[in-house]
Amino acid sequence: TETVYGLGTNAHDASAVARIFEVKARPHFNPMIVHVAQTEMARRLVASWPPMAQKLADEFWPGPLTIVLPTRREVERPVGQATQDCGQPEAIEPVPDIVTAGLKTVGVRVPAHPVARRLIELAGVPIAAPSANHFGSVSPTCAEHVRSDLGNQIDLVVDGGPCKSGLESTVVSLSGSVKSAVVILRLGATPLEAIERVADRIEVASSNDPVLAPGMLPRHYAPRTRLRVVDRITEPLVQMAGPLRIGVLSLSRPTATEAFECIEVLSQEGDLLEAAANFFASVRRLDKAGLDLILAERLPDHGLGRAINDRLRRASLPV
Ligand code: TXA
Ligand code: MG
Repeated sequence: TETVYGLGTNAHDASAVARIFEVKARPHFNPMIVHVAQTEMARRLVASWPPMAQKLADEFWPGPLTIVLPTRREVERPVGQATQDCGQPEAIEPVPDIVTAGLKTVGVRVPAHPVARRLIELAGVPIAAPSANHFGSVSPTCAEHVRSDLGNQIDLVVDGGPCKSGLESTVVSLSGSVKSAVVILRLGATPLEAIERVADRIEVASSNDPVLAPGMLPRHYAPRTRLRVVDRITEPLVQMAGPLRIGVLSLSRPTATEAFECIEVLSQEGDLLEAAANFFASVRRLDKAGLDLILAERLPDHGLGRAINDRLRRASLPV
């Protein structure tokens, strides 16, 4: 997709979905996003479609926003039966419990990548897909990342080129206690500021709430090499380097460079969109460089910088 590569299967095929959990070594309490080709298909999977869902879909779909809504438990109206109710699309088979980790909600999204959407259209079914990496590790943003992580465990890699946005979708829930509120479960490629422009009320969920945000484990997106987040790459840090092999991840080029083994600059111009697109590939390169430590400089805490900082923070936590 436009965000990261996904590992997908027919969302209605419980045993294929089980294989994804197995290949990713993903805990079964963590639900998957269901990808659909258009809004209509999303509406058919959920029990209710509040005005805010329509607003968000109009504004951000196709694109990197996942909307969590109450799922249909059973087909409320038999498929194919003629209906007088023009407002409500016909229900389709609800997705099996394994997709939603037994929750009463389902996360749906219309991806923006033309290959992903065509694939869903051709399949004719919603596609359940987490990111195509081992659970908790660095997300894949090109086909080669997927091949090297999961290569011989999966059937096929569809190479759609490098992911344009490079960060996972923003996940929002509309099933919070306040009806009209948009609850942010995961910061991501749709910036908070953009959602603020359409929603009257936004709450950022505590990532410690296992029910609201089951997949938001403290440690996530993590390379094997130890990673530390700092505000600035300063002289004392450089001196601290000593005999250690240290790599640097920063938005623009740091001034002190001699002390470091390698430096990954996310965007020469300091552009956060470009930084997001480069982020996971840079982390992967540093992780392969045989370093003792990765020093990551915190990004400006707005727009996509906020979502990148969230990933840096989680990647830096001890195992
Ligand atoms: O951009 C993306 O979102 C990518 C592409 C492939 O679409 N997918 C992705 O999937 O990042 P995954 O599984 O790595 O992350 C999905 C997140 C998890 O944190 C999961 O807990 C949350 O979405 N999620 C999915 N369904 C949910 C639900 N019903 N309630 C709460 N959180 C949900
Ligand atoms: Mg993931």
